[in-house]
Amino acid sequence: MKNKTFLKIIQPDDWHVHLREGDMMKVVTKFSSRINNRCVVMPNLETPITNSYLARQYKENLSLITAGLNFTTLLPCYLIDSLDLNDFKLALKKGIFVGAKLYPINATTNSSFGISKIDNIFSALEILEELGKPLLVHGEKVREDINMFDREKYFIDEELQIIRNRYPSLKIILEHVSSEYGTDFVNENKNTAGTITPHHMMLTKKDFFYENSINPHHFCMPVVKEESDLIALRKCACSGNKKFFLGTDSAPHHVNFKLPNMSSRAGIFSSPCSIELYVTIFEEEDSLDNLESFSSYNGPIFYELPINTEHIALTKETWVVPEYTIENNVKIRNFLGGKELNWKVI
Ligand code: NCD
Ligand code: ZN
Repeated sequence: MKNKTFLKIIQPDDWHVHLREGDMMKVVTKFSSRINNRCVVMPNLETPITNSYLARQYKENLSLITAGLNFTTLLPCYLIDSLDLNDFKLALKKGIFVGAKLYPINATTNSSFGISKIDNIFSALEILEELGKPLLVHGEKVREDINMFDREKYFIDEELQIIRNRYPSLKIILEHVSSEYGTDFVNENKNTAGTITPHHMMLTKKDFFYENSINPHHFCMPVVKEESDLIALRKCACSGNKKFFLGTDSAPHHVNFKLPNMSSRAGIFSSPCSIELYVTIFEEEDSLDNLESFSSYNGPIFYELPINTEHIALTKETWVVPEYTIENNVKIRNFLGGKELNWKVI
């Protein structure tokens, strides 16, 4: 299997990506639409998408860019303490929202409107459970006495387990699972799935800290962790485990916000090469046969959406990822920019 030089798979979907707004949206969206049929687009804009009015507006802006392409964007509602429950329920029923996203307050980019106490969203969770729509979770607990590397574990123990027990039929997706503890939680609980990014399967904290400093281009939330976590993530993704599927968490920021200090914004921009990165990982794990399950089957099955019918093809060919994506006023550092990759989409 390691000697494959050509791959044809059912068109993938990206179940977690940031397409942003304005010029940034124009520049980054084409990298996602070139590969995927569907993307779950994150609602953490500067004004978070918390109701159907904002959702329609955002979708309209996106459709100006994606018109004529075979590409669908799905949007989860950004949960806030003061959600309009009638609007939320109706928008879920109409398909304006595909589900809802839980951001704990101040856990990541644009999450200052996030949830301070999970009790505040219990009514919203009841609606999701009743309608069979998923809850997408940024699973990190932020508290002064919890170090960054343990945030996922604490969130699971102190918040997610409560939600899991209280709403047993609710579909929960632990987004960008980053630790072995997280993969265990997903594996041990019914109606629970996880998305996995390429960077959490390629980097450890050694790649984030270097020469007495940090590498801001390897800084994301949740932060990359230990070798043992990376191994656990690779095992779940590459073994054909139906609970895990593709979600790049490609999260572009202008280079000016990615300076090598702790005020750098969190987010890794991988969409110019994300499917190639996944192929590389599956090849390294001698698991190319399971790639399609992760990239094209497990996600739609969990979301109860149809499997795509088109295909994409990749060939073994060396190319260098450009260092930056530069267009108009936008300049973004590409993940692994300047590095050689061995697979290329045809
Ligand atoms: C994301 C962003 O920049 O919007 N950042 C990140 O590090 N992943 C937010 C998120 O998904 O947590
Ligand atoms: Zn994200």
